[in-house]
Amino acid sequence: MKVAFVGGGNMASAIIGGLIATGRSAREFIVVEPNEAQRAALRDRFGVVTLPVADDSIRLAELIVIAVKPQQMREAAKALKPLPADATVMTIAAGIRLADLSRWLGGHTGLIRAMPNTPALIHQGITGLYAPPGVPDAARQAANSLMTAVGQTLWLADEALLDAVTAVSGSGPAYVFYAIEAVQAAGEKLGFSAQEARALTLQTFVGAAALAAQSADPPSVLRDRVTSKGGTTERALNTLEAADVKARIIDAVSAACDRSRELGAELGNEPGRDPAVKSESASC
Ligand SMILES: NC(=O)c1ccc[n+]([C@@H]2O[C@H](COP(=O)([O-])OP(=O)(O)OC[C@H]3O[C@@H](n4cnc5c(N)ncnc54)[C@H](OP(=O)(O)O)[C@@H]3O)[C@@H](O)[C@H]2O)c1
Repeated sequence: MKVAFVGGGNMASAIIGGLIATGRSAREFIVVEPNEAQRAALRDRFGVVTLPVADDSIRLAELIVIAVKPQQMREAAKALKPLPADATVMTIAAGIRLADLSRWLGGHTGLIRAMPNTPALIHQGITGLYAPPGVPDAARQAANSLMTAVGQTLWLADEALLDAVTAVSGSGPAYVFYAIEAVQAAGEKLGFSAQEARALTLQTFVGAAALAAQSADPPSVLRDRVTSKGGTTERALNTLEAADVKARIIDAVSAACDRSRELGAELGNEPGRDPAVKSESASC
């Protein structure tokens, strides 16, 4: 299957690397990338064909993946016009809504929207995907096989849920890094070197996440199992509960969802268009 990437940066490289590692041929991929050094890196690393600008070979690919920054999306989409009616275009750009992408592509309808997260760069990501009802199964499967090369996938019934995916798993790695920073800082305060505190903290997060992923029990049960009455874990958890930390985390994730919705409205806003379109962005 011919797959064209428009934008050959971090995320496109991770997906291509993941696909080649699972046995797909480099000849299946073609990448449009304006940056000469980045084109050379893609050719050297993967042996894929690269182009500085889109031509008809891109337009005829079975799947076109637009992997540019959200702010570059309008220009990249406009350069792809006109597309064959049966072409499928997938965007992985945060916040770009399909209605806006369709407009920039001249009313094209074969569209899929995906929201990966940064662990995709080490093939440990999770991607939320949405395709409108008219998109054929073969196109959905093609999109799915691309994103499973960099982790797990979750298909959504409603495009609006991609704002919630952005809030939970898109921004999610930052919440985990924040918690890692805090526990590591506590380790240093309690007398460990930075290196020791890092080793203790990181392996605890990796191990606990792996245990939670493998267990049939919810995290609350796993947490209870390490919490003895009157013990050390109970003292720590009581401190967190007294500060209402769980409620604040839920507030933070909801705030990220609201911001994702606002950004979608801002990114889709045409220059000179009535700013009242921002009122589309109700909170999540
Ligand atoms: N990285 C992640 O983990 C992650 C997670 C979730 C979603 N995403 C989404 O994935 C998209 C790509 O992210 P990234 O981290 O891969 O970004 P990136 O490394 O900046 O890659 C984008 C590439 O596209 C090139 N480009 C710019 N305009 C172009 C055009 N008109 N046609 C073709 N190529 C063009 C850029 O070149 P220049 O550098 O010269 O501009 C750059 O090399 C973003 O929209 C982001 O929201 C990424």
